[in-house]
Amino acid sequence: MRIPRKLEHVHHALKLGQSGEQGFSDLKLIHNCLPETSLGRISLQTQIGELKLSSPIIVNAMTGGAQETEEINRELAIAARECGLAMAVGSQMSAIKNAEVSSSYQIVRQVNPNGIVFGNLGSEATLEQAERAVDMLQADALQIHLNVMQELIMPEGDRDFTGMLERISTIVERLHVPVIVKEVGFGMARESAAALLEAGVSTIDVGGYGGTNFAAIENARRNVQMDWLNDWGCKTTIALLEVIEAVKLMRVHTAPHKKLTVIGSGGVRGSLEACKALSLGASAVGIAGAFLHIQRTEGTDALINKMDDMHQELKLLMTALGAGTIEDLWNVPLVIRGETAEWCTARGID
Ligand code: FNR
Repeated sequence: MRIPRKLEHVHHALKLGQSGEQGFSDLKLIHNCLPETSLGRISLQTQIGELKLSSPIIVNAMTGGAQETEEINRELAIAARECGLAMAVGSQMSAIKNAEVSSSYQIVRQVNPNGIVFGNLGSEATLEQAERAVDMLQADALQIHLNVMQELIMPEGDRDFTGMLERISTIVERLHVPVIVKEVGFGMARESAAALLEAGVSTIDVGGYGGTNFAAIENARRNVQMDWLNDWGCKTTIALLEVIEAVKLMRVHTAPHKKLTVIGSGGVRGSLEACKALSLGASAVGIAGAFLHIQRTEGTDALINKMDDMHQELKLLMTALGAGTIEDLWNVPLVIRGETAEWCTARGID
């Protein structure tokens, strides 16, 4: 029997691991030897648009749609519940097309009835499909993923990318829960971010290069040798700076009072990287591959320990930086070097 694509993605993501350079080594947080704060007062609470989260760490979209993926979703949801993390499911299109597989997504809500759960669909989705995806999980928000390069590398993938913005705009306007638009690991430039913001999107997950690599995964799945595309995309630090630049411009020129939020993701594996992403101006960070790897190789208790450790370590870092809240982190000084700095100069980002 052919292994479902969703399962192949999980297996190849685990086998290939995280490719490495997401740009965080280009960032240096500056030690504050007079932080005027205390560890007990640090708050990890944050907001994604109007949604209040008790942790800035999100279990990012991965899976659903087959039996083994139901088990993975259950275990990830248990860890998310125990540690108070928001969690997204993988693309629900398979359940929209075939109700029999809905339970592999719904398990996340069953396990965590009071938690924050995000639905997930691609940009081909219609408003009606978006509504069904949200209802399926009583989701608190819907992620819409953009994965043009992944589709192009897949022989059976989409080839027509017209109308994406229009569909996204309709969903943002009419859906009764907030919408998060995300990349899946190729990053985003400020031009794309600006177009999304113009279309009414208020939360963007930059999904940068340097973590799970869907070009490499699709190439590995079928030995199609398009591996010259394996380093396509912009690194997470660069994508963050690009998207934040677009957000700043939007705030100044068009919507000074609108709550616009950015999520940093793509190769975030530990608390120092999370802290750097937040310090660049993100309100939260998304982690997919690194959490999947821990859950599948060491089990759910190990994943819970990792999440707990990340919370403690973030508090420690915030104390040392004198930042009592996630928003305070946006104002801590940091040095940007290397490729990330060169990129900013070339693109006129300050
Ligand atoms: C993903 N990702 C993903 N994203 C999405 O929006 N819908 C999806 O269905 C999936 N499926 C999926 C499967 C697997 C196995 C992995 C590891 C990832 C992408 C994910 O949400 C994230 O954007 C990228 O993986 C980059 O983050 P990490 O993995 O580097 O932390």
